[in-house]
Amino acid sequence: MSRYLFELEPIAREAGALVMRYFAQHVTIEYKGDVDLVTVADRSSEKLIVERLQARWPEHGIVGEEGTRSETDAEYRWYVDPLDGTTNFAHGYPVFCISIALARRDGQLEAGVLYDPTRDEMFAAERSAGAVMNGKPIQVSKTTTLAESILGTGFPRHKRHKNPNIHFYHQLTLRSHGVRRAGSAALDLANVACGRYDGFWEFNLNPWDTAAGVLLVQEAGGTVTRFDGTPFRLDSREVLATNDLIHHELLTNFAEMFAGRGLEELPSVAEYVRTRE
Ligand code: IPD
Ligand code: CA
Ligand code: CA
Repeated sequence: MSRYLFELEPIAREAGALVMRYFAQHVTIEYKGDVDLVTVADRSSEKLIVERLQARWPEHGIVGEEGTRSETDAEYRWYVDPLDGTTNFAHGYPVFCISIALARRDGQLEAGVLYDPTRDEMFAAERSAGAVMNGKPIQVSKTTTLAESILGTGFPRHKRHKNPNIHFYHQLTLRSHGVRRAGSAALDLANVACGRYDGFWEFNLNPWDTAAGVLLVQEAGGTVTRFDGTPFRLDSREVLATNDLIHHELLTNFAEMFAGRGLEELPSVAEYVRTRE
């Protein structure tokens, strides 16, 4: 294990323990905007992670979801999501994680850890060194067709009325074994990396949601691009991550859906009501 991962894992574990203490207390939900939830756990976790990173790597920059922006033109920059899955957390649904990743100024991902404190699963990856979960190497799944795959996706809380993903959710639900919407994009990516999902996509993600998870998928043998197949970048916002084997088929499906071709119509509610009576 490299010096980064060796020192990062205890930080993620400590943040995870802190978050779990708050989880047991059913903390108060606050709002950053109309629908954007935040809790004391998000803020305390970010404070802890930032203190630890700054103490160890004072020359590095940090971008944290809850507002940390330090040394942002440094050659190395940390992306911190102190609690990914805040809505789940705030409602007592145990699907959330801590995500921390290191990238160079040009966006190259170097190392990342993603810790799920509810299952005590520590995912870690380093560029060109593979990906592990609780110290054991992980690989993406071997599913070769979309029709046989299980997928994940997510929907944003803010600007949700502008998000077209419900159409993609509908179409891909009909074309696969199903699409899960678990509420933590970072964990969704980890689930692709360890083969529990064959693919994941989402619109409008931020670098702190994706940085560690994207490196995990790539190091576990998967592929990550934008929806048009162009290379993923941390500022891409669109993410399509797969086991590589179904990537081309999914890209073809996305191209068709964006062009409005081959779309199954949504079932009519009025028709359902009529047949029910
Ligand atoms: C959110 C989660 C969710 C995704 C949202 C993200 P947060 O992050 O990853 O799954 O659908 O787009 O904002 O706010 O819980 O850290
Ligand atoms: Ca997040
Ligand atoms: Ca968060």
